[in-house]
Amino acid sequence: MAQLSVNHLLGIKDLTPEDIHCILETADEFSGVINRPIKKVPSLRDVTVANLFFENSTRTRLSFELAEKRLSADVINFSSSSSSVSKGETLIDTVNNILAMKVDIVVLRHPHPGAAVFLARNVKSIIVNAGDGTHEHPTQALLDAYSIRQKLGKVEGKKVVIVGDITHSRVALSNILCLQKLGAEVMVCGPSTLIPKFIGSLGVKVETDLLKALQWADVANMLRVQHERMDMKFFPSIREYTQRYGLTESLLASLDKELLIMHPGPINRGVEISSAVADGNHSIILQQVENGVAIRMAVLYLLAGKMIA
Ligand code: CP
Repeated sequence: MAQLSVNHLLGIKDLTPEDIHCILETADEFSGVINRPIKKVPSLRDVTVANLFFENSTRTRLSFELAEKRLSADVINFSSSSSSVSKGETLIDTVNNILAMKVDIVVLRHPHPGAAVFLARNVKSIIVNAGDGTHEHPTQALLDAYSIRQKLGKVEGKKVVIVGDITHSRVALSNILCLQKLGAEVMVCGPSTLIPKFIGSLGVKVETDLLKALQWADVANMLRVQHERMDMKFFPSIREYTQRYGLTESLLASLDKELLIMHPGPINRGVEISSAVADGNHSIILQQVENGVAIRMAVLYLLAGKMIA
């Protein structure tokens, strides 16, 4: 059986290109499984997974839970709003109490960057990062790469522009690292106030003109402006942002070429992407969501395999 070089999935930063290819190829197998009439396999029977979500989620939480159930794992779900965290319990105490119930794998979403790394260093469990603040969202990047590969045949050599609020986006950082490890060229585009100054050191192109960025790209990954992570204004108004960075049908038509449109969700219709584009022929937004289940099955299966080995 193929093995990953890591014991946890904390970030794309830790993965080798071989690890990423291994996850994508394993996801191909599971994609076949979940498109059959009988969608379950016994691969994680007797493995217990706890989904710990300290921050809101629709896609990632449900996708992990479905992936675990398709693999026949036992699943428990925890959300911070209805837990004893509100009584002052620490993250380590919370997780150690959950692990005392014989849990094998912890899937963690947390608002603080580094929370997954912190947990991996301090508790005895396999940790899967389901998004830690503005830091990394590795399974999103893996499902995005998988979706590009599915649509365009390969990731290597493709030009991908990530548009919008780069500063506050864990999806942006994980995508940059993942796409580069797979041999793609990456550009970020947005208002200069929403592009971190260190971004050049990652080897990405930077563009503030959306039309020029789209003319360059094969794929555009549109990001939401994350107002909930902002403590000040980064642009004058939403209306102005949409005028300069919103993806519309007329802008797409002016390109006179095929462009693959992606978005990690949740989308703000009429802000970073118009409804016509989000629901149009070039958009693979719902295919990304579909692929998320196979990718998360692959990640859980490969990490659990290391536990048993
Ligand atoms: N893409 C993503 O992480 O969405 P959720 O916040 O709904 O999980």
